[in-house]
Amino acid sequence: MALLEIRELHVGVENREIIRGLHLNVNAGEVHAIMGPNGSGKSTLSHVIAGKPGYEITGGQVLFRGENLLRMEPTERAAKGVFLAFQYPVDIPGVTTMNFLRAAVNAQRKAREQQEFSTPEFLKRVREVAGSLNIPQHMIKRGLNVGFSGGEKKRNEILQMALFEPSLCILDEIDSGLDIDALRIVSSGINALRSPERAMIMITHYRRLLDHIVPDIVHVMSKGRVVKSGGKELALELEACGYAQFEDAA
Ligand SMILES: Nc1ncnc2c1ncn2[C@@H]1O[C@H](COP(=O)(O)OP(=O)(O)OP(=O)(O)O)[C@@H](O)[C@H]1O
Ligand SMILES: [Mg+2]
Repeated sequence: MALLEIRELHVGVENREIIRGLHLNVNAGEVHAIMGPNGSGKSTLSHVIAGKPGYEITGGQVLFRGENLLRMEPTERAAKGVFLAFQYPVDIPGVTTMNFLRAAVNAQRKAREQQEFSTPEFLKRVREVAGSLNIPQHMIKRGLNVGFSGGEKKRNEILQMALFEPSLCILDEIDSGLDIDALRIVSSGINALRSPERAMIMITHYRRLLDHIVPDIVHVMSKGRVVKSGGKELALELEACGYAQFEDAA
């Protein structure tokens, strides 16, 4: 059984169809890349999987380990192991990153019937992971994402991902705004989380990320559909030829 199975998905926003009959199968252990022009529906797809409100599902199915994901609340999806690193992470003033992380991780552990972390245990874990991502301690004590630079927000998303231990990670343009060193640090953080039980979907515009995190499968999305899938060489072909050849296919 696929970890994630999307069949003939149709999604609308304000009476406009954005996802138009999309199919996607992701097995445990696989890393998929989704590339495609601006506005093709990549972020919309990630939001629909994570359960962000505001989208109208007008047809199709999204199954996670064979269960109907679309019927679950976002928190239930997270507890089941779905994680989305947002293209634009939100700020939460008044909630420190540390308190947010602890509350979120413990809520998920509780829902999974795992024991909650004790405070010292959790602090130790956060320090370890943050250290490996070059996230200084003072950042963790600040309001969640408040005043974080673009690259700091992205690193913070990976910190969350490492602590949540999800089984499906969706990373929406995790490489955008990262400097060369940060790209290397974030990529090695992501690579460290690759495992036979875990799948990843990386949405990106740049082949560069895929040099660091080598995908098993690359998909091209255009106008709300997956119009081509292939191996990692497809990313090179896209870089050389652009998306025009796929617009007709869509
Ligand atoms: N809440 C919304 N209201 C109106 N239109 C929306 C909304 N959300 C998405 N859209 C539209 O849906 C289309 C797909 O948007 P989406 O953000 O999924 O694209 P994308 O493939 O992620 O693009 P990019 O590469 O620029 O991030 C766009 O035309 C966008 O304007
Ligand atoms: Mg997007």
